[in-house]
Amino acid sequence: MRVLVTGGAGYIGSHTVLHLVGAGHEVVVVDDFSNAKPTVVGRLEELAGRHIPVHAFDLADAEKLDVLLAQERVQAVVHFAGYKAVGESVAQPLDYYRNNLGATIALLRAMQRHRIRPLVFSSSATVYGPTPRVPMTEDLPTSATNPYGWTKVMIEQMLRDLTAAEPQWRVALLRYFNPVGAHPSGRIGEDPSDVPNNLMPYVAQVAVGRRGELSVFGDDYDTPDGTGVRDYIHVDDLAAGHVAALEWITTHDRPLSVWNLGTGRGTSVLELVRAFEQASGRTIPYRVVGRRAGDIASSYADPSLAEAELGWRATRTVHDMCADTWRWQQANPEGYPS
Ligand code: WQD
Repeated sequence: MRVLVTGGAGYIGSHTVLHLVGAGHEVVVVDDFSNAKPTVVGRLEELAGRHIPVHAFDLADAEKLDVLLAQERVQAVVHFAGYKAVGESVAQPLDYYRNNLGATIALLRAMQRHRIRPLVFSSSATVYGPTPRVPMTEDLPTSATNPYGWTKVMIEQMLRDLTAAEPQWRVALLRYFNPVGAHPSGRIGEDPSDVPNNLMPYVAQVAVGRRGELSVFGDDYDTPDGTGVRDYIHVDDLAAGHVAALEWITTHDRPLSVWNLGTGRGTSVLELVRAFEQASGRTIPYRVVGRRAGDIASSYADPSLAEAELGWRATRTVHDMCADTWRWQQANPEGYPS
């Protein structure tokens, strides 16, 4: 199919572009490059072995979006575009609501006009809120503790209401756990624009010498070693999950589907640090500090629904995640060139 990938120059978007091309789909990217560098595109084309059309504009521009959907004969959409920094969303809530909700509504309106029905939406395990039962199953109630999380909860609600009103839609809500890792070539990977909020990119920057030491946000949680436990999933497993979801919704008559994309296994902060030291051969100095506001002790998926319905399962190990991250970080110590 001809698939539009919004935010396709981003971390998860770029990896998904490669997997879509690898599965035989034709891909078009739209990205406003507010959180991605144009040099990603050259890397993607190098890895895909083909030209990838990229359109640089904000999805809120209805006129440009109409031209794009018509010209590129788009048949389905995978929607990543959105701001995603939890802390920033607390400081700039209106930017997050305008961008994440506004762009999504503009995209849905344009898809309605062009009668494009398949949509895969990039949601997050953050919608399970601050006190989820673990392992998380898709039937749990949703809530949030920050504006970023609320935008995901609200977009999921928008899509529930839309598919109830117009059952011809074919929508997949994919709830990611903790995406980490990089394409094994080391040519694309996660490139935070500022000080990394997330654990894995921060550890990688310590290992490559860009940061002095890791701050471990608390070791007094009710977990085996006291540090936070998360379900880290390799970005290539995540990308494969998007291809599987797209192919499922375009061959089944269900207006709305929800799937967790996780491994079902939890890894603590200190376990991840040790795994990274083994994969990189570098020592990661760290200091235990106070808890970070809003953090929960444990988060990991029950991925059985995606396994049963999509025939999808995460296969890459925590070692793979660390080794692939390290290969990307070593080859690109400052991230993508500007
Ligand atoms: C993981 C663990 C921290 C950094 C976030 C978003 C979530 C999703 C994924 C978008 C926790 C600890 C971290 C550091 C640390 N993003 N940590 N030192 O918070 O589980 O999820 O990213 O959808 O919405 O909330 O990921 O990588 O920030 O933290 O000790 O410098 O590492 O306390 O236990 P998190 P994370």
